[in-house]
Amino acid sequence: MSVNLLALLALLCGIAIAQCPDYLQYSQSWHYPPSSGPRNISYMRPEPACRTFNMSFFEDGSSDAIFYSMSDFDLWRTFLNSYPNTLDTAIRWKGYAADSPDEELTFIVTGDIDAMWLRDSSNQMQSYLPLLTANSSADSLASLFRGVINLQARYLLTSPYCNAFQPPVESGIAPAKNPSASQDVVFPTYDNASVFECKYELDSLASFLQISAQYYNATGDAAFFGKHHWLEAINHVYQVFNDLYFSSTYDVNGQVKQPDYSFTRVSDRATETLANDGLGNPFKGGIGLFRSAFRPSDDATIYQYLIPSNMMLARYLEAAAPIMVALNDSESAVTSVHMTQLATIIRQGIEEHGIVTVGGKRVYAYEVDGYGSANIMDDANIPSLLSAPFFGYLDANDDVYQNTRALLLSYGNPYFMQGPVISAIGGPHQGPGYAWPMASIVRILTSDNDTEISEQLALIIDSTNTLGLIHESINTFNSSDYTRPWFSWANGLFGQMILDLYARKRHILGQSFPQAQQS
Ligand SMILES: *[C@@H]1O[C@H](CO)[C@@H](O)[C@H](O)[C@H]1NC(C)=O
Ligand SMILES: *[C@@H]1O[C@H](CO)[C@@H](O)[C@H](O)[C@H]1NC(C)=O
Ligand SMILES: *[C@@H]1O[C@H](CO)[C@@H](O)[C@H](O)[C@H]1NC(C)=O
Ligand SMILES: *[C@@H]1O[C@H](CO)[C@@H](O)[C@H](O)[C@H]1NC(C)=O
Ligand SMILES: *[C@@H]1O[C@H](CO)[C@@H](O)[C@H](O)[C@H]1NC(C)=O
Ligand SMILES: *[C@@H]1O[C@H](CO)[C@@H](O)[C@H](O)[C@H]1NC(C)=O
Ligand SMILES: *[C@@H]1O[C@H](CO)[C@@H](O)[C@H](O)[C@H]1NC(C)=O
Ligand SMILES: *[C@@H]1O[C@H](CO)[C@@H](O)[C@H](O)[C@H]1NC(C)=O
Repeated sequence: MSVNLLALLALLCGIAIAQCPDYLQYSQSWHYPPSSGPRNISYMRPEPACRTFNMSFFEDGSSDAIFYSMSDFDLWRTFLNSYPNTLDTAIRWKGYAADSPDEELTFIVTGDIDAMWLRDSSNQMQSYLPLLTANSSADSLASLFRGVINLQARYLLTSPYCNAFQPPVESGIAPAKNPSASQDVVFPTYDNASVFECKYELDSLASFLQISAQYYNATGDAAFFGKHHWLEAINHVYQVFNDLYFSSTYDVNGQVKQPDYSFTRVSDRATETLANDGLGNPFKGGIGLFRSAFRPSDDATIYQYLIPSNMMLARYLEAAAPIMVALNDSESAVTSVHMTQLATIIRQGIEEHGIVTVGGKRVYAYEVDGYGSANIMDDANIPSLLSAPFFGYLDANDDVYQNTRALLLSYGNPYFMQGPVISAIGGPHQGPGYAWPMASIVRILTSDNDTEISEQLALIIDSTNTLGLIHESINTFNSSDYTRPWFSWANGLFGQMILDLYARKRHILGQSFPQAQQS
């Protein structure tokens, strides 16, 4: 297409663009009205007509009690901007499967990246769990959940080792180009018409169990799981677990095994490809843990037994098992028992191989290889070690967790970033010097300490660069230097945390949070 034609097209689309601005641009500049707090925080919601799903929470009076519980206008504004962000901006398409007219499909983008991640989409929906009730209407939140579950099932049936996906063909939306993936060499191979990126991350599989269990738990809608392709997908995923369970780098004779999955990418970032020509670093089989080639940050693991992802898998195998029972067929009932047994095996694997002693204290390692090597760190992305009580693997009062937490929130964690703007866990994805507010949010969600919670809340609202949205990472010495202006998941998580504090620590929401000194 010629340059002139492009210019003409842009001109023709000019009116539509003016009505609904590109949110990636919109999210990077300040908009009226101001928050009327000392930080002068921007208003960030799109016009009602531009919202991708109408959430009535802020319009129908449901949020009034939270508003009246707060006295800090900057806190309220950050909540108002961030909580609806996924529904306001990230529901790219909602419709039905071509071959099954009542099979709802929801395509949710991460925000600034035009693709659907299994992990992000489950978590993007998780933020709205407190509002979820059984509802068969196509305009309901429940329908959005069902649409995500159905689409995830479709993705997993074809590409269970992939992490991010393209719009369903029914949407008519063209697949997004992913230049960094265009030369990836991946086994098993995949089709780039439906897959955006194919990094095998154990937590992606666990995310499907997560959203399924959470939808079932909130609605009691067992019948939904018996329709469409959910059962097929669960059985397929379960087969993948079965294969992975017997996975290891070498077989019993010491011969290198045919890998279940391998990946190489041409990149100047070590975390974007796997060592040993795509196999990853060696891991010892048969210890009750599941390998994960990549982390929830989409960075390569160093040791493939990623403990937080194994914790998450154990937790959601247990949580999803009751759905299988509720389906009332004997085959599913057997799978349900197997799922629970598998969770027990993973828990034993974690307790036996995932705990190491550091400074005289027993702590969970981030990653182990089964040969005795362990990586002591945490990464901000959920599942992280810090978030283990949040996703329900253990109780926050667990001794080993408390030891681990103290270590992770100190210089003992190589990815704990400190500075005048914000101090929080980060990770190799954006590198040293960049703290992730998501980790501050998780710190609040897993804390019972009022002082700690208040301090973290103040840091989060201080560090949005007056934009009032939750960014991916922030330079701990310069709040204008941040990554991902439109990171839908983190925004929803912030709102979910406010609802949690409203239920658990309402007096903290009533405080005002004086602006800290910043460089
Ligand atoms: C708030 O920030 C906006 C954008 O920078 C600016 O135009 C406005 O004057 C500020 N208001 C106050 C009260 O500082
Ligand atoms: C949301 O409501 C507005 C009117 O307030 C409407 O213009 C818009 O189309 C609705 N959006 C969706 C996705 O239904
Ligand atoms: C179901 O959802 C629709 C659309 O949001 C809403 O109008 C209706 O009141 C809901 N029904 C129930 C029973 O909650
Ligand atoms: C998919 O791969 C083909 C062949 O390499 C390429 O021509 C095409 O542009 C790719 N599609 C996308 C959406 O990247
Ligand atoms: C189900 O709901 C109960 C009560 O709200 C909660 O304690 C439990 O953690 C939930 N389970 C899942 C899998 O979300
Ligand atoms: C399973 O059986 C129970 C009890 O008979 C019934 O209430 C429920 O609706 C059935 N579930 C499904 C998915 O059919
Ligand atoms: C609570 O948090 C504050 C601030 O992080 C810390 O100084 C204090 O020691 C904590 N108290 C307890 C009982 O852990
Ligand atoms: C802070 O970051 C912004 C955005 O990257 C940059 O323009 C500015 O120069 C930085 N300030 C300092 C003091 O480094």
